Amino acid sequence: MSDLKNAALLLLGRLIVRFEALRGDPGARLFGTAVSRDPYPVYEAVRAKGELVHSSMRLFMTSSHALCDRILRDPVFEAVPAGALSPVDVAEWREGRRLVNPVDESFLVLSPPDHTRLRRMVAPWFTPRGLRARAEFVDRVVDEYLDRVDGPFDLVGDFAARVPVRVIADLLGVPDDDHDAFDRWGAAMVVALDGAQDMKELRTLRDGLAEFEAFLDDLIARRRREPGEDVVSALVGRGDVDRRDLIATTELLLVAGFETTVNLIGNAVLAVVAHPEVRERLVAEPSFADAVVEETLRMDPPVQYTVRAPNTTVRLAGTTVPKGTPIALLLAGANRDPAVFADPHTFRPDRPEREHLAFSGGIHYCLGAGLARMEAAAALRGLFGRFPDLRVAGRVRRRQSRVLRGAARLPVAGGRHTMVETIS
Ligand code: HEM
Repeated sequence: MSDLKNAALLLLGRLIVRFEALRGDPGARLFGTAVSRDPYPVYEAVRAKGELVHSSMRLFMTSSHALCDRILRDPVFEAVPAGALSPVDVAEWREGRRLVNPVDESFLVLSPPDHTRLRRMVAPWFTPRGLRARAEFVDRVVDEYLDRVDGPFDLVGDFAARVPVRVIADLLGVPDDDHDAFDRWGAAMVVALDGAQDMKELRTLRDGLAEFEAFLDDLIARRRREPGEDVVSALVGRGDVDRRDLIATTELLLVAGFETTVNLIGNAVLAVVAHPEVRERLVAEPSFADAVVEETLRMDPPVQYTVRAPNTTVRLAGTTVPKGTPIALLLAGANRDPAVFADPHTFRPDRPEREHLAFSGGIHYCLGAGLARMEAAAALRGLFGRFPDLRVAGRVRRRQSRVLRGAARLPVAGGRHTMVETIS
């Protein structure tokens, strides 16, 4: 399909969807109109309509914790890219499969046995033992970036976005001097997760991927010659992994592990700043960071929803769902289901209910959950240890994404506190 035809169809689709949104269709409100600053009322509107709600967007939606959990664990429902709900024809940008779509071809959307084979290959880096080996490095990276900030700074650009990139780069064996470019590709590929919303985004994705793949081909060749302790070296050494699998898996780690973690750090900081009693306890008791991270994951999860489709026509919550129809599992809605969480709209890090779905569930349960928790807790400890009075010092700019929720820019200030001052 030509770019022009794609753009015309896009415009027509937008008009129809806007009309449905005005009529109150929650699917059109969520997926069809501009990204909302506050999507939570839409998740509640879905809950109020029923356990499983049909939308004019030719999809189903649910905010029910029990139903999300059940669908995630049932092999009848298979993963489809969240970008499948995007209005742009994403098949187009693959340019005859020249480029690898990290979201379409990675194990994030594959089913067994391919899913099992590929996930197993990278799993060793994410075991408790693998994570313990990284803890010190993560703390060091946090300190290093905090050493560089002084006076007002952008919490996202100057800190939250730097830490995960360094951690993933280290995991993949990317040399230090390539970090800036790596950073750029990570940002471009967020589009892959969200699905391109217009032709400009599509081009950003295409260009970012082309550049990143050229870099990966080079890195693969380098690791073949000089293997290290990293993921790419290990995959290259196996012999049973072809180039597409290797590239899709590497790209997945970047896409899945980068902006998600940036958002978790940003959302957690916003929550702490908004709750003085939480800040007070965090400053006095740095290990409280773990509970703050957990409650942020529940109340304001970086990944707001995921999508599944049944591989056969099924009856679900009293409704027939035809084979292949997307179901948007509103994880952020499920995390506020009053059937599971008492007083669900209140930020309470010491709540006993912990079974949120921020990291999804079933076979696609986030492989990097432990790493993400570790990075975010280290970031909070570091930040509020040095800047107990950290405050928002300007307009927070939200990320333009439906899947991912977080700040794109978060200006903060808070006088520098030396270790001596912090201890005294
Ligand atoms: C706060 C940070 C993070 C959040 C909220 C998050 C969330 C998620 C979610 C919701 C899924 C499942 C999607 C689905 O079921 O369709 C997922 C999968 C995945 N995540 Fe994360 N993630 C985070 C950080 C990370 C990190 C740091 C890494 C690795 C470096 C990572 C690697 C993965 C991988 C490889 C998968 C695919 C698992 C599979 O399909 O078997 N994630 N993540």
